[in-house]
Amino acid sequence: MKIILLGPPGAGKGTQAKLICEKYKLPHISTGDIFRKHILEETKLGILTKEFIRKGELVPDELTLSLVENRLREDDCKQGFLLDGFPRTINQAELIYDYLLSIDTYIHRVILLDVPSEVVFKRNTGRRICIDCGSTFHITYNPSKYKSKCSYCYGDIIQREDDKEETVLHRLKIYEEERDRLIKFFNTTKLLRIIYGNSPIEDVFKAVCSAIET
Ligand code: AP5
Repeated sequence: MKIILLGPPGAGKGTQAKLICEKYKLPHISTGDIFRKHILEETKLGILTKEFIRKGELVPDELTLSLVENRLREDDCKQGFLLDGFPRTINQAELIYDYLLSIDTYIHRVILLDVPSEVVFKRNTGRRICIDCGSTFHITYNPSKYKSKCSYCYGDIIQREDDKEETVLHRLKIYEEERDRLIKFFNTTKLLRIIYGNSPIEDVFKAVCSAIET
């Protein structure tokens, strides 16, 4: 099963991706998570992308595309994968479709989590993440059992640098600039399902599973 998960920053892509990948046994490919790992490890890619991410700008397409193409070549992606937060420009969408066709790979479903801007703003600014295992929490909606420590691995919980108010507003603006063109593109593939994501996590997950299975 090959799935693409789209939506504004804070729509719940990472939260739903974790549940989907557990249920359907898929590798979770989050471009945001991969970039953050490179930044933490101070790799060449991390040094190149750090400032874009800190400011809430998109990483240039050529860097993002080669990262995704290399990841999709790995053995664990042969049977399926979930792409989280990619593609997010029309250029990325067109190029990845051409690439996937060239390796006889077909996307099964594209899911867009639709959540109003004022809701995602609160979700982003209240989000906290575990620096060890990457699990996501929210100070109000989804707190960790141990406050400043992770429920899963007891690692430290921090706020992402790009979750500061001004940067969140900028990320939302960038998303809105590309949203309609991406929807138009994926509508032509007939694979797109738009799920209303402003409901409890378990309800969104049920709707997502139903969209995947029908
Ligand atoms: P990335 O990490 O992908 O950030 P994003 O798309 O902005 O998405 P987020 O991670 O902010 O949110 P999410 O939708 O995963 O929500 P989450 O589940 O965490 O990318 C970061 C940066 O990397 C980009 O800004 C860009 O610079 C770069 N980048 C990445 N991909 C790129 C690409 N393709 N091209 C170019 N650049 C790229 O949930 C958010 C919060 O809400 C959490 O606290 C969670 O607990 C809570 N929550 C989740 N669901 C619910 C619910 N149903 N009800 C209540 N609370 C909920």
